[in-house]
Amino acid sequence: MAILKIARMGHPVLARRADPVPDPTAPEIKRLVADMVETMEDAQGAGLAAPQIHVPLRVVVFQAPVGRSEGNLTDAERFDHTAPLTVLINPAVEIVDPKTEGGWEGCLSVPGMRGWVERSAHIRYAGFDTEGRRIVRVAKGFHARVVQHECDHLDGVLYPQRMRDLKKLLFESEIHHWLEREEEEAPV
Ligand code: NI
Repeated sequence: MAILKIARMGHPVLARRADPVPDPTAPEIKRLVADMVETMEDAQGAGLAAPQIHVPLRVVVFQAPVGRSEGNLTDAERFDHTAPLTVLINPAVEIVDPKTEGGWEGCLSVPGMRGWVERSAHIRYAGFDTEGRRIVRVAKGFHARVVQHECDHLDGVLYPQRMRDLKKLLFESEIHHWLEREEEEAPV
């Protein structure tokens, strides 16, 4: 396993469409996934897509721990809102409910920045793990957001391209201004 260099916004590998994986169970895919997990954990990211380590293949890894969700989840909500460390090869994402919700996102390929992005709040996704088993899940909240963000990488899309208002693209060190303002404006 190895911690690999992460491609940054502007590198062509992040702007192209990644290729499907012919055999998800191939030994080189297992090695790729192990390196992706190690790189993601070292960088303390919630997810990573293979193009981010300069490999243009349709592979993502992500996790949606309970601490990343806003508010308190009921036991029933936790099922859709959280995900353990997951590997998804050749993923497909389907929107269940067209309603969107906004949230702050960051990306290891856009270091030091945060942006407010509207995403579908309720999706279904499918793909394969490295044993060739099919994974099908419903996702909501942060879980839905991280999956859409990572799968966007496979189509050469970075989160700033999803933003409607670039005023809300900012340095991480300045985000406290916006968080304070939101709290003030929050309805009671
Ligand atoms: Ni990213």
